[in-house]
Amino acid sequence: MTASPDIKSANHMWGGRFAEGPDAIMQAINASIGFDKRLYAQDIAGSRAHAAMLAATGIITPSDAEAIGEGLLTVLSEIETGAFPFRTDLEDIHMNVENRLKEIVGTPAGRLHTARSRNDQVAVDFRLWVRDQCDAAIAGLTLLMRAFVAQAEAGADWVMPGFTHLQTAQPVTWGHHMLAYVEMFARDRSRFEDARQRMNECPLGAAALAGTGFAIDRQMTARALGFDRPTANSLDSVSDRDFALEFLAASSICAMHLSRFAEELVIWSSAQFRFVRLSDKWTTGSSIMPQKKNPDAAELLRAKIGRILGATVALFTVMKGLPLTYSKDMQEDKEQVFDAADTLMLCLAAMTGMVGDMTANRAVLAAAAASGFSTATDLADWLVRELGLPFREAHHVTGTLVALAEAKGCDLPDLSIAEMCAVHPGINPSVYSVLGVENSVRSRQSYGGTAPDQVRAQVARWQKALA
Ligand code: ARG
Repeated sequence: MTASPDIKSANHMWGGRFAEGPDAIMQAINASIGFDKRLYAQDIAGSRAHAAMLAATGIITPSDAEAIGEGLLTVLSEIETGAFPFRTDLEDIHMNVENRLKEIVGTPAGRLHTARSRNDQVAVDFRLWVRDQCDAAIAGLTLLMRAFVAQAEAGADWVMPGFTHLQTAQPVTWGHHMLAYVEMFARDRSRFEDARQRMNECPLGAAALAGTGFAIDRQMTARALGFDRPTANSLDSVSDRDFALEFLAASSICAMHLSRFAEELVIWSSAQFRFVRLSDKWTTGSSIMPQKKNPDAAELLRAKIGRILGATVALFTVMKGLPLTYSKDMQEDKEQVFDAADTLMLCLAAMTGMVGDMTANRAVLAAAAASGFSTATDLADWLVRELGLPFREAHHVTGTLVALAEAKGCDLPDLSIAEMCAVHPGINPSVYSVLGVENSVRSRQSYGGTAPDQVRAQVARWQKALA
């Protein structure tokens, strides 16, 4: 395709072959400039690298390359100052930049598109953009992890109930709970790192689909744009959008993690739980109920995965079944990724702020940790260890004691030794030492367990890793 705009012909983009211009509705459905203008910096960087390579290989003259390079910098500053005249009739960012370049530098501009097509051009632009977003996600996740580690350090030994089925299960420590999220976000971070590494190959030079007859130097443009190497198959180069899909997949998993902690915050900040207090900065009031402090930021973080996962499904749906190589369908790749990336970065920042500002209600956490027969497993373990009961029998004896306490409306440590001996004669007063929540969490010293010592060791590991 020739992309040299010629204002004088009936169709000022495609010239000779076309006797008529496009229908207005065709222009509306076809133009991508409304959104792909976001790729301007990547488009200009790609064109500058391409022009420098064309000169280095003797395909264009050094003076033409210099005029192109300088002119592109002028275009860049026009866009950045808002002076650039974006034109819908020029379809996309690539044609807009090239057309403006022609207005600025004249004839040399027409040589820029030698040995190139918009197919490899958009592929390289979009890869560069998504690569930047991976870096932004990695940076945002690092800040978020630090916020969780700070909470974990402060509350390494604060006891709270641990839940399964949202029912009190066993006492755990606040620090341990915070570090569970650090593990999740660390996996997210490694997914972005991994995707970034895989996408870091340069499709520029694949041209329309088959490569080019010009003796270009793809190593040179790859290096200039910070890629590890050029892509190895020209057909794949212009038809691949895996890099965007991987970014969206990693974003979706990350958004899912954000939604889980968001949900915990919604529950924990309720009047029924009062586990945490969210700061005024991340909550809103009600226009009618003066007592209300709503966890809006947390609720929105719980919801945003809808957009991000939606974008992921949308792009999969666009790409599914597309024959090689480029099809215009693929122009539908960008808006979803832009929205998902914007959403993710906003979510990471909001969660980081909220986690940094939230205050755990230690007394409430401790009281909740001690209720709900949370040390029943410790009692069963004691029966195994001290009285040599098989675990299944210890489980049964403990269940009977829990039923007794429940009937009496008290907790396990409130049962007298006589009451316990009536259920199993071997029980002696040393049992009370395992019924307290502090002892319970301290005892869970297995690697990765909730004991404060274990939590402190993990906090130290993360502080070092995140420094
Ligand atoms: N605006 C197009 C896109 O976003 C650029 C590539 C156009 N290529 C083509 N052969 N029409 O995909």
